[in-house]
Amino acid sequence: MQPADLLIDNLASLATVDANGKFCVVHNAAIAICAGHIEAVGPRDQVHAAVTLAADAEVIDATGQSAVPGLVDCHTHVVYGGKRIHEFDLRAQGASYERIAAEGGGIKASVRLTREATEDDLVASATKRLKTMRRLGTTTVEIKSGYGLSAEHELRMLRVAKVAGKQADLRVLTTCLALHSTPPEAESPDAYVDYAIAEILPACAEFADAADVFLERGVFGVDQSRRFLLAAREHGLRLRLHADQFSELGAIPLAIELGATSVDHLEATGPEGIEQLAASNVIAVGLPVAALTLKCPMPPLRALIDAGARVALATDANPGSAPCLSLPTTMHLACSQLGLSCAEALQAATAGGAAVLGLDDEAGRLAVGFKADVVLIDNPDWRALIAQLGAEPARVIRA
Ligand code: NIG
Ligand code: FE
Repeated sequence: MQPADLLIDNLASLATVDANGKFCVVHNAAIAICAGHIEAVGPRDQVHAAVTLAADAEVIDATGQSAVPGLVDCHTHVVYGGKRIHEFDLRAQGASYERIAAEGGGIKASVRLTREATEDDLVASATKRLKTMRRLGTTTVEIKSGYGLSAEHELRMLRVAKVAGKQADLRVLTTCLALHSTPPEAESPDAYVDYAIAEILPACAEFADAADVFLERGVFGVDQSRRFLLAAREHGLRLRLHADQFSELGAIPLAIELGATSVDHLEATGPEGIEQLAASNVIAVGLPVAALTLKCPMPPLRALIDAGARVALATDANPGSAPCLSLPTTMHLACSQLGLSCAEALQAATAGGAAVLGLDDEAGRLAVGFKADVVLIDNPDWRALIAQLGAEPARVIRA
C-alpha cells in the first residue's frame, strides 16, 4: 500500500453506500486518499492503523463536520445558448409548458438560441453553470445535447460539454439527445429521425456515452424512438429515455424491450409502469424539480423503491422546465415531496446516479478503490446537506 497523500480526519460522521451496496453511517470516521483514490475509509482508529502518511501529506481536520460522496448528477441539459426567463413568468401566469412549446417557445427556442451562440459563449456559460454545480457538491455530471438538432450543432454541444467540464474541474459524461424535438428545417418528424440515424449518430457516437429520446405526445412516438435507439445501440451507446413526463405512451415497455439503462421523469407513470420497472433492470430517474416547476404530479419514487425498482435522482438542469443546478435542493424535494428518507435520497443522488452513468465501480461511494470525490458538510449530521433547503457544502474535493 502506498503512503496516503491526503487524510480527512476526525469526521463526526460519514454517510455512503459501501462497497457491498449497503447504506451505512460511520461515526468518528476518517478517509485516507492516495493519488486521487480512496485507500482506507471508516472508523478513524481503523483507518489510522491501516495506512501510513506520506511526509508531505495534507491533513484536513474535519472536527465537527461530516462527509458524503461527491454527488452524481446523471441528467442535465446545461449546455445552451440564451435564456427563457420570460417562460417562467408566463407559466406563473397560467400558461402551460406544452402550450408555450406549441407556440415556438420551449425547446425550439433554445435550439434557435443555441445555434446562434458562438462556441466560446457556449463554453463560458456552461462552465459557469458547472462551477456552481461543483460548489453545490456535484463532482460527476451527465450533459445532454438536444438543442442543436443537426450533426454540426449536436456535435458542437457535446464538444462544449467536454471543454466546460475540464474548465470547471468536473467529471463529464455526454449523451446524444438528437431526438429532443424536430428542427424547423425538417420536412417531418419521420424525415428528421431518418436524418438523425444517418447523420447525427455517426457524427456524435464517438463523443457520446449514451443516446436519449424525448418520447412524448407531440414530440416523438414509440416507433420513431425504437428506430433511433436501435441505431444508437449499434454505435455502442447506452440507451436512455425521457419517459412518461406528461403522458404514458409506452416508453417503459420500450425501454425494457431494448435493455435501456434508464427511464427519466415518470411524472405520469401509473401502477402498471411501476410494476414493470420493478421487475426490470432499468433504472428509474426522478427529476422532482421539473415536476415542481411545471406543476406536474411528483414521480412515484416512493412506490418504485417499495416495489424493488432501482432508482436515481437528478436535477434535469435546463433553461425551461428545471432551472436548478443543485442536487442538495433536488434531494430535499425527494424527501419533502416524494417521501424518500435522507438515506434513500443520498443513495439515489450518488451510487444511483453512478449506476445510470456506468460508473458503479468508480464514483458515487466512499469505498476503497473509488475516486476520492468527497463532500464535506459543516455539520456533524450529514443530513444537514438535505434538510436545509438550498444548503451549500463546506468543501468539495474531487479526485
Ligand atoms: O427533461 N422534457 C424534455 N426535455 C427537458 C426540457 C428541456 C427544456 O425545456 O428546454 C426536460 O424537462
Ligand atoms: Fe431532461
